[in-house]
Amino acid sequence: MDAFLINGGNRLKGTITVNGAKNSALPILAATLMVEGEIILKDVPDLRDVNTMCQLLTKLGVQVQRQENGDLHLTVLDEMNCHAEYDLVRQMRASVCIMGPMLAKRKKAQVALPGGCAIGDRPVNLHVQGLEALGAESELLSGDVHLKAKKLLGTELFLGGPFGSTVTGTANVMMAAALAQGRTVIESAACEPEVVDLGNFLNACGAQVTGHGSPRITIDGVKELRGCEYTVIPDRIEAGTFMIASAITNGELHLKNCKPEHLLAVIDKLRHIGVIVEKDNGGVVVSSARRLEPVEVTTLPYPGFPTDLQAQLMTLLCLADGNSVITERIFADRFLHVAELGRMGAHLRKEGSTVIVEGVKRLIGAPVMASDLRASAALVLAGLVAKGQTRVSRVYHIDRGYEQIEKRLIAIGADIQRIDEQIP
Ligand code: EPZ
Repeated sequence: MDAFLINGGNRLKGTITVNGAKNSALPILAATLMVEGEIILKDVPDLRDVNTMCQLLTKLGVQVQRQENGDLHLTVLDEMNCHAEYDLVRQMRASVCIMGPMLAKRKKAQVALPGGCAIGDRPVNLHVQGLEALGAESELLSGDVHLKAKKLLGTELFLGGPFGSTVTGTANVMMAAALAQGRTVIESAACEPEVVDLGNFLNACGAQVTGHGSPRITIDGVKELRGCEYTVIPDRIEAGTFMIASAITNGELHLKNCKPEHLLAVIDKLRHIGVIVEKDNGGVVVSSARRLEPVEVTTLPYPGFPTDLQAQLMTLLCLADGNSVITERIFADRFLHVAELGRMGAHLRKEGSTVIVEGVKRLIGAPVMASDLRASAALVLAGLVAKGQTRVSRVYHIDRGYEQIEKRLIAIGADIQRIDEQIP
């Protein structure tokens, strides 16, 4: 199993090009199941999760080819198989994004329930409720959700849950509604840029989606979707992670292919901490003012502070001059990094879904264990600034969401090495 060895203390300086967004690419890839003819997707990152989705699509009859220039070409060749098996779904829960497209195009879908994951209990009840509102029937058999519908009919539906809107739930219903008969209005829809990107992709294929990016999305069903060429938006979470990498190492990074308008809550928080973030044509420059101020942060659905940057921000706040308070409102248990940061000398106290971060002068290198994608990123950030050597085990988690992370960090001055680690 791969691990990272990081010798901390290097200042990061240089230019990083942000890759296409994983969480845009995954539902867009699922949507290709509904499309006639060839689709060309640009800026799809080469990641473990993307490869898992491509494997799933291949099993469902889609021809997927990665070109030398990185573009993905996809064409549906066979519509017989409708089963997303547990083996793939448990590797990546975004596999559930095929429910809506399969139901709309093939009139049925059998999808294994993903079960729990490292960041907590993650139900898909809202996905299923939304699809039922469009006319689907559902049944749970041997751990698989079976969905079927003779036809889908547009309707008005409310998609809010106990923790606000649902990103992939909105994606599923939006995709199904694109081929439904009549008008669908989704209330309490997720407003994340990735949902907007999916809506734009569907429209490029001939769908009629409006209001995406607001909590009320209207979809007028069309008879068919046709292939197109489409470029995925830059990954705001990857950009945010590099911003924090710059801030924590007292560095200076120029992020290219970055949309600061997708990161307003993050940039606002970083500026309160004392990080300098300046727009530069087509990107941002991030540098640090050395002294980090403590802040209070609460994760919220977009446009609030993203849960996917909570762990990374916690690492930065470990070194702030005073006490910070971080509250997690999306995934109440998303705190597996807390104990690992503690092993590196961080002073953290968890109370329910809040963590009090008492700033310390320095973090100290230690062997730590990655547990989920963003927690792993937080540990790598800690390693970059810690005194001495940090070994981050199980970095397959980070490979799910950050393409060639160590090579890109080395290029801007980090001392990080991938090793093959034997875990007894
Ligand atoms: C998406 O997950 C992202 N994944 C996650 O990114 C991200 O953390 C999350 O949105 C929140 O921003 C992808 O886009 C592939 P949700 P998703 O449904 O759609 C509850 C990463 O690191 N809920 O918006 O699964 C849920 O438990 C990942 O890249 C229900 O109650 O998240 C949570 O509390 C991890 N019932 C809240 O809603 C449901 O049916 C928001 O979850 C669905 C969700």
